[in-house]
Amino acid sequence: MEPINPTTYKGKLPLSATKEFAQNAIGFTRKLKGINPQAVSSNIVFKDFLFIFDADITSQVLKDQENFKKSFAYDYLAMILGNGLLTAEGEEWKGNRRKMQPVFSPKGIEGLFDSIHTKVVEDLESLKDKKEFYCLDYMRNLAAKVVLYSLFSELQNTTNLSDLIDNLVGYANYRMKTPFALPSGFPTKRNRTFKANLRRLDDFILNIIAQRKKEVSKDDFLSYLMDIKTEDGQTYFSEKQLKDELVTLYIAGQETTASVLTFAIHELMKNPEILQKMKAEIDTVDALTYQNLGQLKYVEQVLNESMRMYPPGWGLSREVAKDVEVNGLKMKKGCTLFLPIYHLHHDEKIWESPEKFIPERFEDKVNEHYYLPFGTGARICIGKYFSLIEMKIIFYYLFKNYQLELEEGFELQLKTPMTLSPKFDFKLNCQKV
Ligand code: HEM
Repeated sequence: MEPINPTTYKGKLPLSATKEFAQNAIGFTRKLKGINPQAVSSNIVFKDFLFIFDADITSQVLKDQENFKKSFAYDYLAMILGNGLLTAEGEEWKGNRRKMQPVFSPKGIEGLFDSIHTKVVEDLESLKDKKEFYCLDYMRNLAAKVVLYSLFSELQNTTNLSDLIDNLVGYANYRMKTPFALPSGFPTKRNRTFKANLRRLDDFILNIIAQRKKEVSKDDFLSYLMDIKTEDGQTYFSEKQLKDELVTLYIAGQETTASVLTFAIHELMKNPEILQKMKAEIDTVDALTYQNLGQLKYVEQVLNESMRMYPPGWGLSREVAKDVEVNGLKMKKGCTLFLPIYHLHHDEKIWESPEKFIPERFEDKVNEHYYLPFGTGARICIGKYFSLIEMKIIFYYLFKNYQLELEEGFELQLKTPMTLSPKFDFKLNCQKV
């Protein structure tokens, strides 16, 4: 195996790389890939970073949980998610993932179809009196409602939860972007508000759990997770763990889905022939059921292409757990690996005309090695199937019932560094058909 020697990038001044990364993470990582298309090392927020652009090494890192664990970037989320699936590690993660997997399988998700369907239809009805709406804002609200309803089968008492969680995530984002911020233990106003909000979140969800214990099981994630049993028939999740898993599902599932839908709608507005082809397919399906969702093949291709061009998880990261070598690249224990999935999805050697929106490239199965919107390996997104069902239902009703048009003069810009989303929202003119 030929050794891979990463180029070191320092920048002109101390902290240059950190600033460039914070200001324009995609542009910065594109520049690094131009310097060395395999790997570049740099120092970001006083940490040794290795940016990996090689597709094979990327998949191997994501599939190998012995040598690589989730990086410090997830520690900020863990302040809110505790030991939920996204942030947990080791045997505890493994056991919980194994127990939760059936809930997220196609058979498991079937029970949620009616809930998702009802909520989407109900919410899209509200557009009929509108002449225009902001796309990202609408999709964020809709995705929040769908995920909350799938979690708890109600919205009346859970709507405040969205604001509370948004606030908490805002704090985690701030901590991540502000390495010199005083630790959360310091009694600053911001830290105190964060702690108070965390307590409110705990109380809120623990109350819902207590209430559900007095009721019968429902078709929602709360009941599905509460009904999971140990080998000897005891309730598997403690209340605290159940709370962490529920909050994790909300946070992991809301913003990501809203971004994919918004990016896809933007591309559809810019590509009328693709929009027409998709609408023609939608018109062939009279009444949507769980069973005939599979007929919406082109809708799925559009969503897949949106996730290729704009993967919400645009840059995944890991920490090297012990000194290791993969395909000739040596990695030192403690080093932070940054895996920019965005650049894999835009690599000219892998994709023909990568900057063009071409859903037809997903007509046949693409090489999963190079297409990683949901990650890969054992830690692949558990909500992949759920989100595809949800997004297909939304597109079916949105485009069956409404004629949409993008506001004039809008230019899409991208926002990072956490997940990838549109930097500015855009208006859609909307007419009921
Ligand atoms: C289109 C929408 C979505 C995208 C693009 C997406 C993307 C991802 C990615 C890239 C990962 C892997 C992170 C890593 O390896 O570091 C992940 C993990 C995860 N996602 Fe999603 N996700 C989406 C929707 C959802 C939904 C709807 C849910 C839940 C209802 C969900 C729950 C999770 C959880 C719990 C994990 C952690 C899995 C584990 O580590 O075992 N995601 N997601």
